[in-house]
Amino acid sequence: MFTVTSEIYGENNYQTTRDGGKVVSRFRFVYPDSEAKLARITTDKDGDLEVARPRRGVIELEHSEATELRLVGLQVWRGALLLADYLFSKKDEFSGKTLMELGAGVGLTSIAAGIHNPGRIYCTDVDLGCILKLIRGNVQRNSQLLSGKISVLEFDFLAPREDQSQDLVEAIDNSDIILAADVIYSDSLTDAFISVVDNLLERGRQTRRHKTIYMALEKRYVFTLEDCDSVAPMYEYLIRQTVNKPWNMEHLPLDFPQYFEYDRCKQLILIKITGR
Ligand SMILES: C[S@@+](CC[C@H](N)C(=O)[O-])C[C@H]1O[C@@H](n2cnc3c(N)ncnc32)[C@H](O)[C@@H]1O
Repeated sequence: MFTVTSEIYGENNYQTTRDGGKVVSRFRFVYPDSEAKLARITTDKDGDLEVARPRRGVIELEHSEATELRLVGLQVWRGALLLADYLFSKKDEFSGKTLMELGAGVGLTSIAAGIHNPGRIYCTDVDLGCILKLIRGNVQRNSQLLSGKISVLEFDFLAPREDQSQDLVEAIDNSDIILAADVIYSDSLTDAFISVVDNLLERGRQTRRHKTIYMALEKRYVFTLEDCDSVAPMYEYLIRQTVNKPWNMEHLPLDFPQYFEYDRCKQLILIKITGR
């Protein structure tokens, strides 16, 4: 069977443990509030300088290390860490908003969101390979970190809209911010994701609860003889298919701090989408 492996496992030591079939890794981060503390120099009552240490935390996740393409959600991908960094950097702006993650994989980004957001987070994915059960287990595993409530729901981009559960429809209507990390990796999935975005923006207009979508992705370059060049087919397909959409699509600068440990490579992209 052809399998794929997320590059991040080879780039950092996530202190992975393997127990029977269970693989668990530790994704370390620093809390954003530690930046402000570090910038302040204080002295103790004897006048000695106090050295501020960053406050550290860990999200512990059960996941797979290699999967067939159909089950890539069981792994952790770089986009999830980029989006988690972005949420940490915007924690005050997003506080009190309701967030929904699409194609959440094993739940890293939603759990990161729940660390600072006291509101509701809907963590969704297509239920392949018992992924929803895995996410629920990971949410439980990290419950001591969370200030918000994470609800896990199925959202399949390919399912007809009329088949969406009542819970999902309510969750969509209650959401302000939509997150998606590394969710496009075939033309058909990209088309389905684009329809989902259209639908979310339309529901936002109808209910007057407008949605802002943040999608992270890693441009994956391949050399093709046809192009005689390195091209990023998935990214280029997304841009081609959305060029005439009534969307504002803004490529955000990646100038926010890095709180999680991973290689923030130059192929990473963060896009903000709103309706026009
Ligand atoms: C590369 S993984 C990314 C997972 C996670 N966001 C991350 O970055 O670690 C792609 C995600 O898209 C999800 N996905 C695939 N087909 C889907 C579908 N039809 N509807 C919703 N999500 C889907 C997968 O289950 C998986 O979670």
